Amino acid sequence: MAREVVVVSDPAALAREAAGRFAAAAAESVVARGRFSVALAGGSTPATLYRLLAQNGGYEGIAWDRTLVFFGDERRVPPDHPDSNYRMVAETLLAGSPIPPANVYRMAGELPGEEAAAGYARALAQAIPMSRDATGNFPVLDLVLLGMGDDGHTASLFPGMPALDEEQQVVVATEVPAYVRPAVARLTLTLPVLNAAHRVIFLVAGAAKAASLAAILGNADPGTAPLPAGRVRPSSGAVTWLLDAAAAQGLK
Ligand code: 6PG
Repeated sequence: MAREVVVVSDPAALAREAAGRFAAAAAESVVARGRFSVALAGGSTPATLYRLLAQNGGYEGIAWDRTLVFFGDERRVPPDHPDSNYRMVAETLLAGSPIPPANVYRMAGELPGEEAAAGYARALAQAIPMSRDATGNFPVLDLVLLGMGDDGHTASLFPGMPALDEEQQVVVATEVPAYVRPAVARLTLTLPVLNAAHRVIFLVAGAAKAASLAAILGNADPGTAPLPAGRVRPSSGAVTWLLDAAAAQGLK
């Protein structure tokens, strides 16, 4: 696994850096595989990136007609709910870019968890190639965008929750720890899928993330269990941590 850590000044610079890398990943994937499959992060940090990508038809070099949009996780609410990651993406990216609607694979947050998870796993298996590794058969995404919570969670893989240790399923429904907001049950891609990706880009901004980042990217005591975001280590992919200065303040 190749790992790169890039620190920029502030969230606006983070979005610009991420947009350039998104476009590069898209171009590379289309050349190599004829298509660009990306799982988008939810939460608030990536919204500026998505707006950038949607402006004036998006960054040059993005073959939107060859782009397949997936979600790394979703809150279990209807798609028009204020907490819906799909709604955030629809308002920031989809509304302004020529991505064909058929290329957007929404997690059905309005359905019962198990049904929604199984349906999404089927959609992934039908849309993109699978890779067989030691523990199973997982969809290989060209790019996974991820955020990180203050507690070190990523997607909806939270410390201490069973979903974090799922090794067989591609998508699972999960509850959230009591401290998490919004206090809404989730759907999430599992670690094997994140670790099967060709490329992962983390977008992390703000001082509240500094302690968890230092635990993951600093010289954490090898005896401590890695935080969820620290367990994203694609076996043959590359991980880029894009951080703003506030989030990176605890790193040497
Ligand atoms: C979600 C996200 C989640 C998010 C982190 C960071 O559904 O909320 O997938 O993993 O990336 O919680 O969120 P912020 O970007 O809002 O800090």
